[in-house]
Amino acid sequence: MHFVRLYARVLQQLGQDKRVAGWLSFANVLLVLALFAEPILFGRIIDTLTRASSMAHAELWTALWPYIAAWIFFGLFTIVCGTTIALLADRLAHKRRHVVLRNYFEHILQLPAHQRHGRHSGRLMKIMLQGSEAMWGLWLGFFRDHLSAFVSVIVLIPIALYMNWQLASLLIVLCVIFVVVTNQVLKKTHSMQGAVEAHHSDLAEHVSDTLGNVALVQSFARVRHEVETLKGLSDRVVRAQFPVLSWWAVVTVLVRSATTLTVLSILLLGLWLFTQNLITVGEIVTFIVFASMIIVRLEQAVSFTNRLAMEAPRLVEFFDVLDTLPQVRDLPQAQAPGRLQGRIEFKNVAFSYDGQTTAVKSLNFVVEPGQTVALVGASGAGKSTALALLHRVFDPDEGQVLIDDQDIKTMTLEGLRQNIGVVFQEALLFNRSISDNLRVGKPDATLDELTQAAKQAQALEFIERQHEGFNARIGERGRALSGGERQRLSVARVLLKDPPILILDEATSALDADTEVRVQAALEVASKNRTTLVIAHRLSTVRHADFVLVFDGGQIVESGSFSELAQAGGIFAKLVSHQFGLSTK
Ligand SMILES: Nc1ncnc2c1ncn2[C@@H]1O[C@H](COP(=O)(O)OP(=O)(O)O)[C@@H](O)[C@H]1O
Ligand SMILES: [Mg+2]
Repeated sequence: MHFVRLYARVLQQLGQDKRVAGWLSFANVLLVLALFAEPILFGRIIDTLTRASSMAHAELWTALWPYIAAWIFFGLFTIVCGTTIALLADRLAHKRRHVVLRNYFEHILQLPAHQRHGRHSGRLMKIMLQGSEAMWGLWLGFFRDHLSAFVSVIVLIPIALYMNWQLASLLIVLCVIFVVVTNQVLKKTHSMQGAVEAHHSDLAEHVSDTLGNVALVQSFARVRHEVETLKGLSDRVVRAQFPVLSWWAVVTVLVRSATTLTVLSILLLGLWLFTQNLITVGEIVTFIVFASMIIVRLEQAVSFTNRLAMEAPRLVEFFDVLDTLPQVRDLPQAQAPGRLQGRIEFKNVAFSYDGQTTAVKSLNFVVEPGQTVALVGASGAGKSTALALLHRVFDPDEGQVLIDDQDIKTMTLEGLRQNIGVVFQEALLFNRSISDNLRVGKPDATLDELTQAAKQAQALEFIERQHEGFNARIGERGRALSGGERQRLSVARVLLKDPPILILDEATSALDADTEVRVQAALEVASKNRTTLVIAHRLSTVRHADFVLVFDGGQIVESGSFSELAQAGGIFAKLVSHQFGLSTK
């Protein structure tokens, strides 16, 4: 993204507060104009004083008084105006930073998994924090320095030209040098700084990935290795950063030298003009004060460019994520469906992850409300994909998924998902209390409801064993609990949600046989009076299904009741004899 466009985008993020921002900008321009008064008044006073020898005391004071009064007025005005701007700008920047952060957070939470997968959660978090901080800094800079620097230079150069074009030409040469030098260095360092930022992101990802797996790191005695890897990444950041810093140091040296030379030249040229009677002492003083004001502003502009150059890659990363349009989103005319009955129909559904190999195709089946259907088949056969299409993790490439004869694409995502409860193989729990985790299913659930759901999910007993009961915190991803306990919590959570449709994707596959029996019992309670779709590897758990769909290579190759299929001599029959054969040996 071009720097100017990037900066414009940053300012755009002031969004709703554009009006305040507009007023602040206006006040800023007034402030700059007021600041010009000082050198002009100073010059006038000096000129009056040089004529003082030919004046009476009283006459001198009458001549000086208006200048002094004006000076006091402008002085007060700049103090009040400057403080107000600083205060309001500070507040605005802080407030917007959090708004931007919230928007980003909401956005990434809505991105479907496969659109997030290229970016590790650690990386996404780093982009969020650093991007919003970079914006905060640039907003503050805009109201404090950038805008007034820009306005000053635009206003001061013509005034300087008007005052004395010979001296002003020197200032213009200085401006040109500043622009050329910074522009060249910007171009030189642009891609370098991009590389630095990429290394920074790798570093953030490594840290977060390692922290998420501390148990693994410790048990495999990998602490030193992980630290070494981190050191390698840090070294890369530092190595990549050094040349960029050197280039900007060169800018500083060049800019300083040019400035010193210019001031010296102005002084010499001024003295010469004075000897020719072309300029007064007061005019020289005014001009030198002007020149130093311009120089300060130009230096600010350079340091701002430097800062923007350093932050640009962060901002680009931030906007890249923000601009990723979720592939699954509400259609403009989408409606919340309310509570559905739960009749599910797949009509010729096909889907591919990469646009080449099909994950599922020609899926046709109907599940009546309250029925339980089992999806079986080898790993990679397309079962999870089929059910992901039902709760719109993806949208099908072909065909339609209907619930209660309504295409699910016409429903709002939220409305659809309120009707579907999912229990995954992994329980997915927050590092919060048990009750907070359960209330994910129903935010306003009372303690009675929590207790009831926990009881049905066979979770009450272990919850009551916790010191703090429902208030016990369960650690990151629920690590303070056993696998079976975690899974029973996730069943209780879905019971509280009480959706008409239930998806169980290998909900018990990760559990040992004893625990599986308990969770299985909980799931049977959960699936009562709901349309239930179960993916299971252990066929014993789907005996009671109303019918079975057998998947192979992304297609449904057999369907019918458990006993029909078991005797039909096809794939399912083979699976049955294999599993039950093994278990009876
Ligand atoms: N997120 C994904 N990105 C790309 N391919 C995927 C993804 N998830 C699954 N697949 C592929 O799609 C096919 C079906 O997978 P899946 O539906 O998970 O099978 P099952 O649940 O029956 O084991 C497999 O070939 C798998 O490799
Ligand atoms: Mg699966």
